[in-house]
Order: sequence, then structure tokens, then C-alpha cells
Amino acid sequence: MLKDRRGLDVSTDNPEALAAFDDAVDGYVTFHIDTTKRLSEATKADPSFFLAQVLKGGMALLSLNAKNLDRGKAALAQCAAVADKANPRERRHLEAFEAWASGDIDLALRIWELILSVHPTDLLALRLAHFHYFWLGRTARMLDSVVAAAKGWKSDTHGRSWVASMQAFGLEECGEYAEAEHMAREAVDYDRNDRWGIHAVAHVLEMQGRTSDGIAWLDRNAGAHAEANNFTFHLTWHRALLQLEQDGPDGLLDWYDTKIRDLSSPLIQALPDLYIDMQNAASLLWRMEHLGVDVGGRWKELADKAEARIGDGSNLFTLPHFAMALAADGRFEAAKRLADGAAAISGATLGPVGAGIAAPACRAAVHHRRAEWKDVVANLMPVRHDLWRLGASHAQRDVLWQMLVDAARKAGEDDAVKTLMVELTAMRPVPAEQRRAYSRGA
Ligand SMILES: [Fe+2]
Repeated sequence: MLKDRRGLDVSTDNPEALAAFDDAVDGYVTFHIDTTKRLSEATKADPSFFLAQVLKGGMALLSLNAKNLDRGKAALAQCAAVADKANPRERRHLEAFEAWASGDIDLALRIWELILSVHPTDLLALRLAHFHYFWLGRTARMLDSVVAAAKGWKSDTHGRSWVASMQAFGLEECGEYAEAEHMAREAVDYDRNDRWGIHAVAHVLEMQGRTSDGIAWLDRNAGAHAEANNFTFHLTWHRALLQLEQDGPDGLLDWYDTKIRDLSSPLIQALPDLYIDMQNAASLLWRMEHLGVDVGGRWKELADKAEARIGDGSNLFTLPHFAMALAADGRFEAAKRLADGAAAISGATLGPVGAGIAAPACRAAVHHRRAEWKDVVANLMPVRHDLWRLGASHAQRDVLWQMLVDAARKAGEDDAVKTLMVELTAMRPVPAEQRRAYSRGA
């Protein structure tokens, strides 16, 4: 029985398989392009390597795309064939992925936390829990989970700086900006390709309104885009937000076409409708239009992909972005089906949020496109303090607040605008009226 890079037992006796698996876990945590390839190398070198097979099946779920769900479930079911060599920790990973595949993400999280209570250096369990807390909007849990596990790490345990980056991001989403920035900058000093650490600093600078610092930071760390997976586009999206705030939308369409939604990019060609890419693209187009930019026919390809995903509730925060794209391209009947589908999402964890939050957010996006301002307010105002349940970050969800304030202003609902501006100002260090997207609200 060999041990992984953090000293945990794994069910392989094949050093080559283990090295490839360790590389794959490192790659997953750092958004490396070769993660899946490394995993395939691990299972090829030792087909009976249980945890590698489990993660290979789990990668289908990580795409957050319903069309990959059955493939993921089938791959996970096949892991039983090599379960005789698995240790209890590895078996729990399978149970967690199976719980997720069945729609019970809360159960999956309980299992990953159980693993971490015994094996705090299980980087895979830690990162998967981090991922789900983020996409469930549970920022306090996202932070507490990492803080608890970090106590079991030594300063020289492999991957320690990546744990610091996770903690930094949790701190940032909880509003602890100074500590988050310090911790993430240290982590990136240690590993220049720590993309989650680079991202955590970008979030701090976005929230604090330090736009020129943010642009300089992302430009200085542009080397990390090499060998990155599609997360590269999320980093360039962050740079666009900073640019938008600092100088307005001039020149950003070109940035969109070449750095965020370059359809000739092999990354986008391989995953043309990846949830995070769809969010980045729709969100930026919407924000640019909000500032008066004519984005031309750019919504159409997003609408094509969104229409094909109607009924897919794998990631709730993506759904209002799908609705934005469908409505912008004039596909109102499809947008209605999308919203109805959001209301009908099943699954123990996401089901109630689909009906309660995602559906009104989708309807609001459609009403906004139709200039039905009062309907936007009617859908979004009652759920605005629960939008976090869609998951994602403060910076990402801001597009829905921009939509609400804009609609309330155009509907002449001055009291609502006043309330929202006060609430927004309480949510960030920068007063809402000083932010470009809200200047008209002021
Ligand atoms: Fe982000």
C-alpha cells in the first residue's frame, strides 16, 4: 500500500499510477488543463486503483452539466468492481459522489466533512467541499471548513499554500478583506500558478474598488493563464469587471471576443457550454449593455447553448444567465420554459432553491429584456436577500442587483431604489453611488 503526497494510504501498489493521480489532484486544485489526462494515466497504469476510478467518474459530475450525469453515475457504479482493495476513506469518496449524483449535495458534504474530520489533509475532500459550499452560497461554511482542516496541515505538507488560498477566498466572501489579501498574496508568492489564490486577491480588489491595483495584479500574474483550464476565462472576466469600473466599457467588446468568449479557443471548443463560461459571457454582455454598449449578435450563440440546456438544474446560478441570453435573442417562449424548468428542479439540496430563487431570478431577467420593470421588481425584490442561495460570489451576483436597481428606477419605485442603494452600500466597502453600474440609481 502506497501513500499519497500528503501521507494518506491509497489502494494502489503502482508508483506510476500514484504519481499520475497525485498530479491529477494537484491539477484539479490549481485548475490545470491536464487534470483529466493525468487521471486517465493513473487508471491506465493501474485499472484497480479505486480512488482514481472514483475521481474519474466524479469528473463527469464536476462539469455541472446534466448531459454528463448518466455517464458519471455509470462510471461510479463500475467502481464497485475494484472496491475490494479500497480503504474506508476511499470508499467514503465514492459514497459522497453517489450522494451528489442522486441530488443530495448536503449528504455529500457531510461525507466529505467526515473524511476531513479523520484525514484533514485529504486535499480532494477539502477542495470538493469548498466547491460545493461556494456553489450553494454558504460562505461561512466555505471558510470554516478550510479553517478546521488547516489545523491538521504542517507548513511543509504538499499543497499547504493552496489550502491558504481556499481560506483566503472564504475570508474574502465573508468580508475579511485585509486578512484574505495577505493570505492569498503569500500563497501566490509561494506558487505563481496558484490560480485560486490569484483569484482571491482579484476578488478583494474588486470588492474594495481598487480597480487599478486589480488590473495590475491580474496582468502581473498573466503567466498563470498558460496551462490553465477554462478558469482562465473567469480570471479575464474579473479583469474586465475592473476595467469596466475604472474606464467604462470602451474596448471591452474586443476583450470579450478575444479573452473571454473566443469561440476559436480549443478550451471553448472542447467545452462550448461550460457553466462558468456561460456565466462570465452572459454577465459581461448584460453589464456592457447596461452601460449603453451595443453588443451586436453576440447573444445568439449563448442563446443556442442555453436553449439546449433547458431543464438542466446542475448549477442554479447559471440559470438566470441562460434566461438573459434567451430573452436577449428574443426567444421568450424558450425563456419561459427555462424558468418553468427552474421551478421544477428536483433534488434534495437544489430543488427548493430552484423553485424559490432561481425561477424568479430567471423571470426577472426576461421581464427586464421586455422592459416590464414592475415585473422585474416583483420577482427579484422579495428574494434579493436570498440570492446567495443560487451560489457564486458577491461579485458574480451583483449583476442581479444591477438588474433590480435599474428596473426599480425605471418603474419609478423610488422608495425601492433608496432601500436597495442603502443595502448595496452595506454589502461592500465602496458606496453604491460611487460604482459605475449604480450611478443612475443614485
Ligand atoms: Fe470570481
